[in-house]
Amino acid sequence: MKRIYIFKRFERFWHWSQAALIITMLVTGFEVHGSYDLLGFKTAVTTHTTAAWTLVWLWVFAIFWHFTTGEWKQYIPTTDKLKAMMLYYLTGIFTDAPHPFKQTRLSKHNPLQKLAYLFVLAVINPLIWITGWFYLFYNDWAAWGIDFLNLEYVAFFHVIAAFMMLIFFIVHIYLATAGHTPTAHIKAMITGWEETDD
Ligand code: HEM
Repeated sequence: MKRIYIFKRFERFWHWSQAALIITMLVTGFEVHGSYDLLGFKTAVTTHTTAAWTLVWLWVFAIFWHFTTGEWKQYIPTTDKLKAMMLYYLTGIFTDAPHPFKQTRLSKHNPLQKLAYLFVLAVINPLIWITGWFYLFYNDWAAWGIDFLNLEYVAFFHVIAAFMMLIFFIVHIYLATAGHTPTAHIKAMITGWEETDD
């Protein structure tokens, strides 16, 4: 096994703070939705709104960081080894087959990860973000002249995006434990150092 430094300090900070905020958004959001009663509706709404503002600022900062460091290129999709990765996750992972993708500092995501993260960045985040903003400023719709919008549709698409985020989150946790040991990838996101085949 060889150790390579993959995740820089800001990436690790961004990853874990985003994880904490998204878990907060899921827990409070589904309480607002009426799925259960945990914090009480009012606290759920205020926590959801505070975490939303924090998350929005974190995303703005993360976008800035990705463009100034050139790290955005890590998300350019590729079909190279895509089929091999799918087969690996369908069968290879259960038979201890060698991993088809070799992680390097310049290419730290496998082709399936690239597609999944791009989907989050280009579809789920904008949908949750835009509908969230409309939801947040509902009281200003008339003043802004956009009261032809329907809150029910805004809420519907916000919840659809929340379910997509929940599915991503569950798959992400499963795959995070699919390294050469169940905690290898998680440790790498804490220390920055990933262990790969020599
Ligand atoms: C991972 C991110 C997020 C998740 C999982 C999430 C989830 C949810 C869910 C499930 C609801 C209940 C909707 C309903 O039943 O009508 C909700 C409500 C809401 N969300 Fe989000 N949301 C997220 C991000 C955001 C963002 C970024 C904003 C603002 C920019 C936002 C603003 C709101 C507002 C204002 C409400 C309505 C609260 C109320 O009833 O007063 N959300 N969210």
